[in-house]
Amino acid sequence: MEVEKVIETRGLRKTFRDFWRRPTVEAVKGLDFSVRQGEVFGMLGPNGSGKSTTLKMLLGLLHPTKGEIRVLGAAPSDTRVKARIGYLPEVSHLHPFLTPRETLMYYASLFGMAHGEAVRRTAELLSMVDLTQAADRAVGRFSKGMARRVGLAQALVNAPELLILDEPTSGLDPIGCREVKDLVCLLAKSGVTVLMTSHLLSDVEDVCDRVAILDRGALRAEGKIADLLRKPEAVRFLIEGLSSEAVAALRSEIEERAGCRVQLDYPAMSLESFFLQVVAQDGRLRTFEMAPFLRATQGTREGEGGACSKL
Ligand SMILES: Nc1ncnc2c1ncn2[C@@H]1O[C@H](COP(=O)(O)OP(=O)(O)OP(=O)(O)O)[C@@H](O)[C@H]1O
Ligand SMILES: [Mg+2]
Repeated sequence: MEVEKVIETRGLRKTFRDFWRRPTVEAVKGLDFSVRQGEVFGMLGPNGSGKSTTLKMLLGLLHPTKGEIRVLGAAPSDTRVKARIGYLPEVSHLHPFLTPRETLMYYASLFGMAHGEAVRRTAELLSMVDLTQAADRAVGRFSKGMARRVGLAQALVNAPELLILDEPTSGLDPIGCREVKDLVCLLAKSGVTVLMTSHLLSDVEDVCDRVAILDRGALRAEGKIADLLRKPEAVRFLIEGLSSEAVAALRSEIEERAGCRVQLDYPAMSLESFFLQVVAQDGRLRTFEMAPFLRATQGTREGEGGACSKL
């Protein structure tokens, strides 16, 4: 059975024009891609490659010059569809004088939520992103990491089926990045489809099932990360606890059988893991719990662990 496509674009184009309608920038040049239900999809690309423009078209915030878009089975302009999407913009959109609690209550009211339900969701989301202690301080004074977590909570107020995150980890330190990645994985496991952009290749590698690489408005590569990065002609064994004599013996045995030289290497942990080990020993790395109202509205993702199982 074909998995339902949550996002599908065909021949998507966006040409920005100046005041006199003269074309200035061809930001997106005929993009075809799709995101399947339950997937964490990463969009990579250098500055100015058209990532944010593409997301804005998917959200109905920008009108495509040409091409087709289906989001959750409808056109992006459909307001019923907008109610099922959560969006974290690239630049902070939070009102600096509002507190996180007021911010979330405000967004809940935009969705026409009953007051009691809005209060409950706000409390649950604040707890989920670990901002209960700071719930009544103005957002303008928050660190980047805290502000990003408010933004994420805001994007979840309506229990979205599709979450669109434009550089969710931008400006965050490794602990903040890891926390956002953990949150994305938690949401993905509960069945939310996630489309995110990032410059940090390791972020995308850690959480995304599939990626698209954009360059100057066009798709240059697309697929499962494991497939894109696999070297089909190479194989690697990972063996722990061997003595150096055993390593030498095995190596010559394999070289004799394979008829070629065998490269030896000793796997190292990533700098990120090492950094987190060093600075997060004292419990500074939080573990997040899904907000109960989100658990109640979403299903659970079955089977394959996806990229998140690595974290
Ligand atoms: N409102 C606009 N008016 C005119 N040009 C625009 C507008 N928005 C974006 N552009 C141009 O479109 C191109 C793509 O921009 P976009 O913001 O989509 O890139 P991006 O991939 O998100 O980049 P970054 O990684 O820097 O966020 C750029 O050349 C940009 O200058
Ligand atoms: Mg952008």
